[in-house]
Amino acid sequence: MDLNRYRLGFHIAPQRGWLNDPNGLCQFRDAYHAFFQYNPEWPERDTKHWRHFVSNDLFHWSDHGTALVTDIPEDRSGVYSGSAFVERGTASDGGDLMCLYYTGNVIYEGGKEAGYDYVHSGREANEILVTSEDGEAYSAKNVLLRNADYPDVCTEHVRDPKVWEQGGTRYMLLGARDLDDEGFCLLYESADGIEWHIKSQIYSEHKFGFMWECPNVVLGESKDFLAVCPQGLASEELRWQNLWQAGYFPLDDSILNTVLVDESRFVEWDHGYDFYAPQIFTDEAGRQILIGWMGSFGQDWTVTPYGLDWCHCLTVPREIRIGVDGSLRQLPVAELDALREEPVTLAPNTAVTLAAHRADLLLEGIVGEGSLVLDGALSISYAKGLLTVAFADADVAAGRPARSVPVEGLSDLRVLVDTSAVEIYANGGAHVFSTRWFPLADELSVSSSFAGEATAYPLADAMAHAFD
Ligand code: FRU
Repeated sequence: MDLNRYRLGFHIAPQRGWLNDPNGLCQFRDAYHAFFQYNPEWPERDTKHWRHFVSNDLFHWSDHGTALVTDIPEDRSGVYSGSAFVERGTASDGGDLMCLYYTGNVIYEGGKEAGYDYVHSGREANEILVTSEDGEAYSAKNVLLRNADYPDVCTEHVRDPKVWEQGGTRYMLLGARDLDDEGFCLLYESADGIEWHIKSQIYSEHKFGFMWECPNVVLGESKDFLAVCPQGLASEELRWQNLWQAGYFPLDDSILNTVLVDESRFVEWDHGYDFYAPQIFTDEAGRQILIGWMGSFGQDWTVTPYGLDWCHCLTVPREIRIGVDGSLRQLPVAELDALREEPVTLAPNTAVTLAAHRADLLLEGIVGEGSLVLDGALSISYAKGLLTVAFADADVAAGRPARSVPVEGLSDLRVLVDTSAVEIYANGGAHVFSTRWFPLADELSVSSSFAGEATAYPLADAMAHAFD
């Protein structure tokens, strides 16, 4: 089989090797930059670096190589996740400066025999700053925070700095695990982005997992949203169906005034099989844009069937809006529309065939129950108050079982198909599923039994020259 059929046309993926979390997302000197956790030695070894992709429109990306590698003692076991902060006008040419904050991971050798449990001992979490004037050449690394700098309540699991500015002060959120094995966040503040002081610790009212990774913030008018990835929530039939979760807490105030969150209000970003560690950035137009890792750890299904030599991708950039009910909506950024080709109308129960496995499917004015079926192999159905994703073909599913979430009435569906990646947005982006699949058919066949208007837009291949 020609494995090129699974290469993606508008999702970021490495040409070879392993990808996980998006890192350092920003708009800088007219271009969008997306870095990600990258392991070129996968599956033999596990050392993370930052790979770098650049785009002018969030869809035509080009691979700019490995940007940050492990090369100082403080990041010798991995250049772990982090974020970008664009400092206005402080570069030597008077232009903006890209400031990348990440966690330098250090794992001591010796293992349990040496007395390390790698929670309370045997690790270092160093918060490190690297700057760039052009997005290509990087400064020396500046270690800003080390184990000894964190509050005494912390174990050695502290990581994933998210840095932003508000009212002239810079803030840094870190995810952490405390000595009672409870996940929480640290909030630091700084006047210059270099000297950081602890401002607060943010806990949930009751324990909500043993560790919170990849914290982030969505800024509202007066009430913000704290995003975290809690590890250690027990899966239930209709929620938390992955090993580790990713979601947000709606707050009653600014994040700067928050020390306690109500875990019963936690909302999952995405119910998919393949979603974790999203990162949010604000672009120059003021849009808050989320990109997630379209993958996760510790799941039973495969992401590399047939011996694919690259593993995982990122989601498309999604614009975040606050819905009337106070929860967040995610939809692909509008730039995606430029990839649309001649639309085809989908009449109910009449299959349509598209030449390539790339499409933007829009179903509007849905009334009642029904299903949308792709290639006869993947169905997205709504019945009895449940939105269900199910695979009819075990090879195509590569191990993914059916999954449902409760949805009160379905009004619209938008489905992005990009060869081996599918993103499903229901009710204006209030409910989202992301999944990989491995279709065997050359053409994409689509049929829908939903009542309402349905249109299929074939999409152009925006990544054809990503690796040139
Ligand atoms: C989340 C995560 C982060 C860490 C990175 C390492 O997926 O575990 O907490 O920085 O991945 O690759």
